[in-house]
Amino acid sequence: MSAGLVQAAYIVSAVLFIMSLAGLSKQETARSGNYYGITGMAIALIATIFGPDSTGTGWIIVAMAMGGAIGLYYAKKVEMTEMPELVAILHSFVGMAAVLVGFNSYIDHGVLVGAMLNIHLVEVFLGVFIGAVTFTGSLVAFGKLRGVINSSALQLPHRHKLNLLALVVSAGLLYHFVSVEGSMFALILVTLIAFAFGYHLVASIGGADMPVVVSMLNSYSGWAAAAAGFMLSNDLLIVTGALVGSSGAILSYIMCKAMNRSFISVIAGGFGQDVVASSGDEEQGEHRETTAEEVAEMLKNSKSVVITPGYGMAVAQAQYPVHEITEKLRAQGVEVRFGIHPVAGRLPGHMNVLLAEAKVPYDIVLEMDEINDDLSETDTVLVIGANDTVNPAAMEDPNSPIAGMPVLEVWNAKNVIVFKRSMNTGYAGVQNPLFFKENTEMLFGDAKESCVEISKHI
Ligand code: TAP
Repeated sequence: MSAGLVQAAYIVSAVLFIMSLAGLSKQETARSGNYYGITGMAIALIATIFGPDSTGTGWIIVAMAMGGAIGLYYAKKVEMTEMPELVAILHSFVGMAAVLVGFNSYIDHGVLVGAMLNIHLVEVFLGVFIGAVTFTGSLVAFGKLRGVINSSALQLPHRHKLNLLALVVSAGLLYHFVSVEGSMFALILVTLIAFAFGYHLVASIGGADMPVVVSMLNSYSGWAAAAAGFMLSNDLLIVTGALVGSSGAILSYIMCKAMNRSFISVIAGGFGQDVVASSGDEEQGEHRETTAEEVAEMLKNSKSVVITPGYGMAVAQAQYPVHEITEKLRAQGVEVRFGIHPVAGRLPGHMNVLLAEAKVPYDIVLEMDEINDDLSETDTVLVIGANDTVNPAAMEDPNSPIAGMPVLEVWNAKNVIVFKRSMNTGYAGVQNPLFFKENTEMLFGDAKESCVEISKHI
């Protein structure tokens, strides 16, 4: 394949990757978004493998077959809730790849002199640094999510100063590396520092906040790939890396905002250590209980119903009977819609995936901002396994650990039914005043069993 043809293929791939990201941003187009991404990657791989810069095509194909088989096996086997783990381990591969590409391109950089050599050395140094941070950071995130590493936040004394020291020493090494026109010793030293820095950065974050960290590492892995693209003079790798880097950063920002965390402190590491304060988990009054039969009756008499699912729906796998209830009510002329909080569940888009799996129509699944204003005109809200995402304390109690987090204002509806198994708290460990409001009734039990029972009575 000629160099011109490879460049043309790269442009097509880059456009397909952008279309893929655009597609993935909406449920209706997510499937085609995936196909654009797959096609773009296939074109990119074919153009690279059969392009003029590649040798040892046979070896590449053998390696790809082995890697592809392992990837396929794990992707098929992985549970939805294990997805962040899988993504974390994949990021570690990207990080390690950037380190190896960096060393390779330092050892074998051809004939470069003057400014070009300096630019190349900076690329190598930064690529190795970002890659090494991503590698150990992702391994720690994987270990914490898997439970093989203690998930509590590592709190070394002066940890922020340690991080700063690592950065300052690395900057000094970069200066030295470029001024002596390359030094293997400096490169190995910065790799070790970056390994330790990445480890420390993620180890100082509590395991429960790992999904946000994984999304941040996703961004780092993108920048590592972009750096590798500069080293290899591969335009497509630069574009792809930048797309992954910036989309990962945007996703982390959205998640931080929805969880009311500071974006800066996530990037700096060590956020989350003081988050899951389990203060305020005591009950705050009397709650009322109801039965599935009564809920079914209430639903039949409602004109409009909003369902706000949360982590408990995922645990109970209640999405199928929830869909059944939805269809039965819609058939009886009741308007049913879903209100999805951006961090409901435990991973981005968790609820959307479950509802799509159960074939709930996309057009009745709305985001928090789209539904919040309508809740005051809603007859019945079903809170299915959600807790923090519907907690009024976020708006009313400035001392609450979740104060300031935007929530679904379900208490404004005429009736609220909360599906859960006990009065236990949710992820943030705080009690929910919603459960004690006059218009709220609790339906205790496993969410799936409760939904099946309600469906029978409709
Ligand atoms: P949570 O606040 O975690 O509450 C889930 C509730 O589900 C619990 O109170 C639990 O009560 C109930 N539950 C568990 N199993 C159940 C079952 N089988 N049947 C019925 N109920 C069950 O959920 P949420 O409202 O979705 O909020 C998500 C939380 O996770 C937020 O604090 C968010 O910041 C955090 N988080 C989200 C993400 C992402 S990206 N989505 C990532 C990390 C953290 P019982 O035990 O009484 O049943």
